[in-house]
Amino acid sequence: MSRPNLLLGVNIDHVVTLRQARYRQMLDSPNAEPSVLAAALTAETAGAHSITVHLRADRRHIQDADVALLRREIRTKLNLEMGNTAEILAIALQVRPDFVCMVPENREEVTTEGGLDVAGQRAALRATVKALQDNGTRVSMFIDPDLEQVRASADIGAAMIELHTGTFANATGASRAAEVARLQAAAELGHELGLQINAGHGLTTTNLPDLWSVPNLAELNIGHHIVSRAIFIGLDAAVREMLAVMATYPAA
Ligand code: PXP
Repeated sequence: MSRPNLLLGVNIDHVVTLRQARYRQMLDSPNAEPSVLAAALTAETAGAHSITVHLRADRRHIQDADVALLRREIRTKLNLEMGNTAEILAIALQVRPDFVCMVPENREEVTTEGGLDVAGQRAALRATVKALQDNGTRVSMFIDPDLEQVRASADIGAAMIELHTGTFANATGASRAAEVARLQAAAELGHELGLQINAGHGLTTTNLPDLWSVPNLAELNIGHHIVSRAIFIGLDAAVREMLAVMATYPAA
């Protein structure tokens, strides 16, 4: 029995974090770099299966024009991470990314902290999921590995869940083992409910093998580690080394 390969979505937000650090006020400059498109195309050439970006309400990194450019030019799939706001939903309906991952968004946070409370916001999320999925975009819920949130995600009609691996990534010893057990249970239940199971946040080439007892994983979304490694070995090599570790995910 073999399963399709584990897919990799490369999150390139932090390529743009670097560009914005210098060029926020002068994006038209001929010197504005690094190029978000060159990063996406490099990741694709290295084997990425999709390109992930988070268009935040505060536009701290990815800008509207970046999303439009990527939509036009990339050859793989575009995965847009977004908070559930009318403004970003309107953009997503116009851009028509292949996938959307709904995330909680809090202005003060450094990065996405904690999963989405799907169970507590069913009506609002159900409407957004329907609008996006009717428009041809498959929708994922970024949730903590909590069974109530898994059930709620299936209940509101999402096609996928992305299990938040941040707690796993930052834990050690017994607490890491406990978090792996939660991820296993969430992945099992999600699969039973017909959801595609993705995972992401804080994943690295070092911690990934500790995740391999979690069944049914279809896709990982990874950003910070790949972009950090790219500083030393280049983006192409950073994506390839991640894919090499992912190839060790056990077949079902
Ligand atoms: N998945 C989601 C939903 C995220 O919000 C993020 C962080 O932007 C990631 C995956 C990637 O996390 P990391 O940058 O830690 O790899």
